[in-house]
Amino acid sequence: MRGFRTLGLVLAVLTFFSRLDAQDLPDAAEKKVFENACSACHGADIVIGIAGTRDFWQKSVDTMRARGALGTDDEFRQIVNYLARYFGVPVNVNQADSSDLTRELEITADEADAIVRYRVEKGKLKDWSDLAKVPGVGIKKLEPLKSRIRF
Ligand code: HEC
Repeated sequence: MRGFRTLGLVLAVLTFFSRLDAQDLPDAAEKKVFENACSACHGADIVIGIAGTRDFWQKSVDTMRARGALGTDDEFRQIVNYLARYFGVPVNVNQADSSDLTRELEITADEADAIVRYRVEKGKLKDWSDLAKVPGVGIKKLEPLKSRIRF
């Protein structure tokens, strides 16, 4: 009897944690595509706790594709975007150069140049409200990346 009770407790704890993990996958347009392609062999939550550059995720997804992950080119592009955006590395908007800003923050080269110009002309950006002041930068678009942006 006691064995069953212990097993029940272990299962309850495992269920609790797997539910937590499922909630930790951020909601976005690409989430379903990611879950469909990436949960066939292991949980899609295998990516939780990993932070990588866009290149890192591109390589990881290429490896999984070679291992047998199924999807179209477009779906894999969406998956790399999803991972690079929500499981990306921190980006310091005062230090990153224009091409890093473009690649890691999914902004245009013009927007990245505007950030670099702003910090050269006005000095270090102090916080989110400073970033919102940079002319030509779509701050709404950067909202989902907020937790990765450093000043
Ligand atoms: C055909 C099976 C399969 C599919 C589908 C698959 N993987 Fe994997 N994945 C593996 C195997 C095998 C491992 C290594 C063993 C493990 O950790 O479970 C692995 C491990 C990983 C790891 C841990 C680091 C590593 O490289 O070992 C990550 C991250 C990962 N997969 C991401 C993904 C992503 C993202 C997708 C969707 C594009 C995906 N996987 C789809 C088979 C697969």
